[in-house]
Amino acid sequence: MRRVLVTGVTGFAGSHLADYMLTRNDCEIFGIRRWRSRTENIEHFQDRIALLECDLRDATSTRDTLEKVRPDWIFHLAAQSFVPTSWIAPTESLTTNILGQLNLFEAVRHLGLKCRIQLACSSEEYGMVHADEVPIKETNPLRPLSPYAVSKVAQDMLGYQYWMSWKIDIVRTRGFNHEGPRRGPVFVASDFAKQIADIEKGRRPPVLSVGNLDARRDFTDVRDTVKGYWLALEKGEAGEVYNICSGRSWSIREVLDLLLGMTKVKIEVRQDPARLRPSDVMVLEGDYSKFAKVTGWKPVIPFEQTLRDMLEFWRSR
Ligand code: GDD
Repeated sequence: MRRVLVTGVTGFAGSHLADYMLTRNDCEIFGIRRWRSRTENIEHFQDRIALLECDLRDATSTRDTLEKVRPDWIFHLAAQSFVPTSWIAPTESLTTNILGQLNLFEAVRHLGLKCRIQLACSSEEYGMVHADEVPIKETNPLRPLSPYAVSKVAQDMLGYQYWMSWKIDIVRTRGFNHEGPRRGPVFVASDFAKQIADIEKGRRPPVLSVGNLDARRDFTDVRDTVKGYWLALEKGEAGEVYNICSGRSWSIREVLDLLLGMTKVKIEVRQDPARLRPSDVMVLEGDYSKFAKVTGWKPVIPFEQTLRDMLEFWRSR
């Protein structure tokens, strides 16, 4: 049985990846968590995986953990993943994302582990995208617009460099926005869905707070995204980078309208200046043909279904 380590298993994508791997029944799953990580995303499978305490920001902790697990595959999903937090706490965001990954690579290198590593890089790296660059290919220039995006560029480039320098078997995926049940309540679709569910229950007045509705994002259901992550390690080429996305974009206004169309309650929409960013990425619409060619992957869950599932998730909470 293949030994698979997931960093960030207690998070949104990590828990969905574990769900997917558990249906496959062909690997032994190891996950790491920090001592105070929340566990509500993994409670339903906690007894079916091995959970180890590890802080990737601590080189000793990382090395000891990898020595114990000796994984064949690593999915590296752990990160500070919320863009606005990276302006409020840039040091924390850069440290967690860049040094956390560096510790992982150095542990693999010094222990001489022969493992494949998938890196969850991000479409945010493309940042300032010009109109004639859409749909975005992997060859597009990277023009990051937030400390978070810079941290992901660094992770991406370190992945390339460790492959070139040390032949560590790394596959980089640039995930575009992924949504679904368990999505953290700070991210846009989940935030709007949660506000609607709270309004329906009478927990807040019928006013929905929003930020920049003109931005466009390319959304994939997380359950499709994590299958992509799996295929990246099963079929992806070492040293390569692949977009994982749906190939179409929606404005945030359209996302809001779709969600508002799923409730019977009358809701007023109000822009909250605190939700606007110093520099927002205005359009992300990707081209996943490179990834599809190598792996056969394509997204199958329609975005409307994803949004409905997210709203139901918050309604049932
Ligand atoms: N969060 C949030 N809340 N975003 C809002 C809101 C709001 O009330 N109103 C409008 N937006 C806009 C943001 O300005 C942004 O343009 C867009 O909605 C999406 O915001 P997020 O859902 O916070 O995601 P993100 O695109 O910044 O980043 C996500 O996707 C990346 C991949 O492209 C995160 O999951 C990142 O970790 C990931 O790398």
